[in-house]
Amino acid sequence: MKPREIVPGVLAVGAQDFDRRLFDALIPLPDGTSYNAYLVRGREKTALVDAVEPTMLHVLEAYLEDVPRVDYVISNHTEQDHSGGLPWVLERYPAAQLLSSEPAKPMLADHLGLDAAKIRTVADGEKIDLGGKTLRFIYTPWVHWPETMSTYLEEDKVLFSCDWFGSHMAQTDLFIDGADCILAEAKRYYAEIMMPFRKIVQKDLDKIKDLDIRLIAPSHGPIHRDPQSIIQAYRDWTDDKPHNTVVIPWVTMHGSTAILVGRLVDALAARGVTVFPFNMATADIGKLAMSLVDAATLVVAAPTVHVGPHPMVFNAVVLANALRPKVRFAAIVGSYGWAGKMADTLKAAMPNLKVELLPAVICKGLPKPSDLEAIDKLADAIAAKHREAGLF
Ligand code: FEO
Repeated sequence: MKPREIVPGVLAVGAQDFDRRLFDALIPLPDGTSYNAYLVRGREKTALVDAVEPTMLHVLEAYLEDVPRVDYVISNHTEQDHSGGLPWVLERYPAAQLLSSEPAKPMLADHLGLDAAKIRTVADGEKIDLGGKTLRFIYTPWVHWPETMSTYLEEDKVLFSCDWFGSHMAQTDLFIDGADCILAEAKRYYAEIMMPFRKIVQKDLDKIKDLDIRLIAPSHGPIHRDPQSIIQAYRDWTDDKPHNTVVIPWVTMHGSTAILVGRLVDALAARGVTVFPFNMATADIGKLAMSLVDAATLVVAAPTVHVGPHPMVFNAVVLANALRPKVRFAAIVGSYGWAGKMADTLKAAMPNLKVELLPAVICKGLPKPSDLEAIDKLADAIAAKHREAGLF
C-alpha cells in the first residue's frame, strides 16, 4: 500500500476506521473516525509523527513496509488511539529515538509499559533538523490531556496538532476546506473532550496565533486546508460569551414532564430564544455536548423515579457537570407522584456549573394551569436574563 503525500516529503500513513461507532465506551461516532499518522522525510533523517490505534496497526505496518529507516518517533499525545502502535514501531525501528514532551514520559511508561529511560523528552520550542525539514515542538497542554504537544514543520508550515482541531470522521479524501460539515464534526469533538479545559485552550490558541500555518494536520479526521476557519471556530467555542440558546435534556414516563417541556420550548421560542431539547431516552449525547458549547442556559427536566431524578436525565447532568460548559443560568423542571428529592439531587450533581439557579417548576402528577403559568414565568425569566447579558 502506497501512502499519499500531503506536501512534498510528508506522507499520510494513518488509518481510516469507517466502522467504529463508540469511543471510550461512551462517545458516539456516527461517521467513524481515523487515526492519522504522518511520515516526514528530510534529506538526512526521517520522523514518524504519532502512531495508530492498535486495532488498525496493520494499516500502518503496510504503509511502512517500504520504509527501511525511521530516526525519530514523535508522540504528541499518550492516549492509546495514537500511541498504542508505538511498541510495534519501536520494535520495527530499534534505532529510532522516541520523542515526547516532559509530562508525557512517565505517562508513556504507565500506559504502554515503555521503558522511560529510552524516551527523549523535548523542551517547549525545541527543534530538530531532519535535513531541509525542521520540526518545532510546541507544548499545547490539555488538548486534552496534560502532556499534549503539537509539532510544527517550519519549511512547509504544517501543524501536526494531534487531537485538537480534529474530528471523528472517516473519509478517503485527505483534505477538507472550511466546510460547515467539518466544523460541525470538529465542534462535536471539541465538546466531548476539550470543553472542560476551555480556558487553557484559549492560551494554546494564543500560543499559535503568530504561527504561519498553511495546513493543520490533526490526528483524527481530514487535514484542514483552510486553517483559519477552524482556528476561528475554536476561538468562538472557547470564548466567554454564550449564545442566546437553551439546552433541555429531558425524559418523560407518563407524559407530565413532556407537557412541561413542550410548554417551555414553545414559550422560549415565542420570546426569541433558541431551544435545543434532547429526549435522553433516544438522544445522541454528542449532539447534547455540542449544544452545550454555546448555551447560555441549561434546563433539566426529569420525572421522579422512586425518590430521585430519572437516571437518564441524571446521566445528562453528570455529563454536563463534567464538560463544564460556559452556561450562566440553570433551572430544574419536572414531576413526581407522591414525594421525592429529585430537584435537590439534580442541584447537588452540578457543582462545576457556575450558574445562577432560576426558580424550579415541579408538579405533582399532571401539570395544572398554575404549573403551566409557572413555566411561562420561567421562560420570561430566561429571556430577561439573556437580554440583560446582551445575548439578543
Ligand atoms: Fe485521539 Fe486523546 O486521543
